[in-house]
Amino acid sequence: MTDHHVIFMPSGKRGRFLTGTPVLTAARQLGVDLDSVCGGRGICSKCQVQPGEGSFSKLGVTVQPGALSDFNSVERRYDEKRGLKPGRRLGCQATIQGDVVIDVPAESQVHRQVVRKAANGIPIVMDPATRLHFVTVEEPDMDAPSGDLERLRDALRAQWNLDDLSVALPLLRQLQPVLRAGKWQVTVAVNHDENRITALYPGLREAPLLGLAIDLGSTTIAAHLCDLTTGKVRASGGVMNPQIRFGEDLMSRVSYSMMNPGGDVEMTNVVRDALDQLAVELAAEAGVDAGDIVESVIVCNPVMHHLLLGVDPVELGQSPFALATSDALRLSASEVGLTSVAVAARVYILPCIAGHVGADAAAVALAEAPDQDDPMTLIVDVGTNAEIILGNRERLLACSSPTGPAFEGAQISAGQRAAPGAIERVEIDPVTKEPRFRVIGSDLWSDDPSFAEATKDSGITGICGSGIIEAVAEMRMAGIVDSKGLIGSPVQVGTSRCELVGRTHSYLLWEDGERRIHVTQGDIRAIQLAKSALYAGARLLMDEAGVDTLDKITLAGAFGAHISPKHAMVLGMIPDAELSHITSAGNAAGHGARMALCNKGARAHIEALVRKIEKIETAVAPRFQEHFVAANAIPHATAPFPHLFAELT
Ligand code: FES
Repeated sequence: MTDHHVIFMPSGKRGRFLTGTPVLTAARQLGVDLDSVCGGRGICSKCQVQPGEGSFSKLGVTVQPGALSDFNSVERRYDEKRGLKPGRRLGCQATIQGDVVIDVPAESQVHRQVVRKAANGIPIVMDPATRLHFVTVEEPDMDAPSGDLERLRDALRAQWNLDDLSVALPLLRQLQPVLRAGKWQVTVAVNHDENRITALYPGLREAPLLGLAIDLGSTTIAAHLCDLTTGKVRASGGVMNPQIRFGEDLMSRVSYSMMNPGGDVEMTNVVRDALDQLAVELAAEAGVDAGDIVESVIVCNPVMHHLLLGVDPVELGQSPFALATSDALRLSASEVGLTSVAVAARVYILPCIAGHVGADAAAVALAEAPDQDDPMTLIVDVGTNAEIILGNRERLLACSSPTGPAFEGAQISAGQRAAPGAIERVEIDPVTKEPRFRVIGSDLWSDDPSFAEATKDSGITGICGSGIIEAVAEMRMAGIVDSKGLIGSPVQVGTSRCELVGRTHSYLLWEDGERRIHVTQGDIRAIQLAKSALYAGARLLMDEAGVDTLDKITLAGAFGAHISPKHAMVLGMIPDAELSHITSAGNAAGHGARMALCNKGARAHIEALVRKIEKIETAVAPRFQEHFVAANAIPHATAPFPHLFAELT
């Protein structure tokens, strides 16, 4: 029998196949990425291909008419009922009759690339853990008695080569009605990360399966509802973490748990309810049923991790900060309170790196991929604790540093959470020492004639984390604060905005009648402590890595997205680097969660990477204290900051 030259595009994979070979078979033999849900029955249309015509001189092939067989009865029936786009063929029905170049369109590829992250991150390539498999199951037979589940397993083995799949009891309860409703044809959702059946649908399931990528933060919970076939985000949303009423920051929630018997259970219950409610709301927004959510990926810091799991976080509040487990977790959704999703839905929680470096930091490492690049990169996720990662493809190190909540506006005299009305940007004229500022919710600066009108709804309510960082850095550049962090007197500084409040001076940022916002000496001290801790953590990792300079600094997290690199460096929060090489990664943890949701290989990758990351404990490192003391000066007692001074002069 004659064989023919077959080339698949865009992969360029090629081979020779006998006349009559189905295109899907040729694709599978060559390892071409061509989807199929129905297993070649001609009903799912996932295997669509587009044969080329004419001369492909670069490929050395000329395609003659009739290179693929004519429509057979199955393909004709599909085309009549459902319609194929012009030129498209069902790969499982069309057979090879001559030399041919076959294009596999993006929607027929399982491993399609769906998104390239704007900043430093790597693209998401679809390889979802959950895939659909249509099977025909033998009907029960009195003469050959066996259970419906056993015959379903036989069908999956025979038709899809799938073996040893586990089934949870809630799904087993659905099996018999589903099989009978589908007249012994059923679509099975299989989680290939766990070799487990997670949903059953009568007949051929055509609607997409859905997954949730959840970034469970101590302040907000953000989630993306994703199509597990295309990777597209169907809906996104967030809610405040309801645990806030038990404590603003992580340590106060750990304290709440220590001081109140059953406090951990209260916090577990409210966060689980919030997650489930968010799943329902996102599904409603996307116009789908939350019951079609078959898996979720959750990233969170260690305290959130333990409270979600129902593990008392008390050990995380005291040295040596032992985690109950640092491994990645594969759980049923109902075990973490997600009850509105599919009954046998699964949850994957990324591994934690260390006692204060959680699954959220692991997700940042996954999204930013410093392990796949050469530049020496520092990644900083600033929160109550700063989570810091340093390294490149040779080596990665991580630590956390106790910055406290000052960078989030707490412990600051007029501090507040980032919300409308909060001062978020500050500039101070170095000559007149007069400030101007912007508040969240308005694009106008305070010296704009329309500012009062633009902010009349929100008012001016306080100063948030990015605002206090800019204020202190601007005060330093304007000579209002010296390198020790002392605010000068009105005479020293040359402005009546420096006022004696108690025994120290404060700088008046804004006043309106009785209402005033100062930057006090206490505020400066709080920022000095926080920034010294952050710098010392980063510097400690640099010591361990044996480097003195950084190629890149990435500021992760919501706070990182708002922070000004120049002001952060003027303060000495971060080590010196080229200012243009300091970037914000946005919500890198959320992106990492989405990667792990859409690509099961990303899960194996981050689990292996976390095992390789060297954990440095700042609390017991002798040089941490040394770095901390030197970093108390603004920007630093001894470090020269050459890039910063080049920028400022
Ligand atoms: Fe389902 Fe071809 S594999 S239609």
